[in-house]
Amino acid sequence: MKILDDEKDLLLDHEYDGIRELDNHMPVWWLWLFYFTIAWGVGYMVYYYMLGGPSQEELYEMEMAAAEEKYNLDSGGGTEPQGESDFTWAYLDDEARIEEGKEIFMSNNNLCYTCHGSNGEGLVGPNLTDDLWIHGCSADEMAASIIEGFPDKGMIAYGSGAPMSNEKVQSLISYIASIQGTDPAGAKAADMSRAQPCTIE
Ligand code: HEC
Repeated sequence: MKILDDEKDLLLDHEYDGIRELDNHMPVWWLWLFYFTIAWGVGYMVYYYMLGGPSQEELYEMEMAAAEEKYNLDSGGGTEPQGESDFTWAYLDDEARIEEGKEIFMSNNNLCYTCHGSNGEGLVGPNLTDDLWIHGCSADEMAASIIEGFPDKGMIAYGSGAPMSNEKVQSLISYIASIQGTDPAGAKAADMSRAQPCTIE
């Protein structure tokens, strides 16, 4: 290979099978990047290994705690509604909350309408407008139905598995209470082997 004049100074004094090496310097940007990674590594080691920065497990716990707070969940299972234990479930008359409940019912986030019909008349899931209920019709019971779902019957928690705050569930049950007795077109007959008469007060 032809060696250019100004490369002569850079030529190292070894040669293997005709392969020769030039002593070119690393590009400056590359060197700074390299120094930066060293400094970063030192900082990382000091913070995470010496000053007690959070471990992956701790970060995970923190994120889970933040999510629990955000969505008002607690880890308790069972059939009791989850969330703040002192939350008082009630059917509200407030128009704005009922409207919010309807939006949730019809949203593709929660999917209620896909199984219970756009007017609550029932499809895969039972009719929510009649006075026959499988799982009870008190505010507590309905909130529990929504929050827990019935996974073995095809309804997962919160309808779609996407958690919502107790306030939103409150709006949702208020909407369902508001459509009681509307007898919508295509109303699905109750499964009388399981449903019980129950009237929403
Ligand atoms: C994938 C279908 C599906 C979705 C989505 C769904 N449900 Fe259900 N839901 C069901 C089925 C099926 C049942 C009946 C469970 C049983 O047979 O015990 C049910 C039962 C219920 C009950 C109890 C009814 C009773 O008679 O006691 C309520 C209340 C209810 N759903 C509300 C909702 C709300 C509100 C949403 C949206 C957040 C929703 N569901 C989303 C399928 C669904």
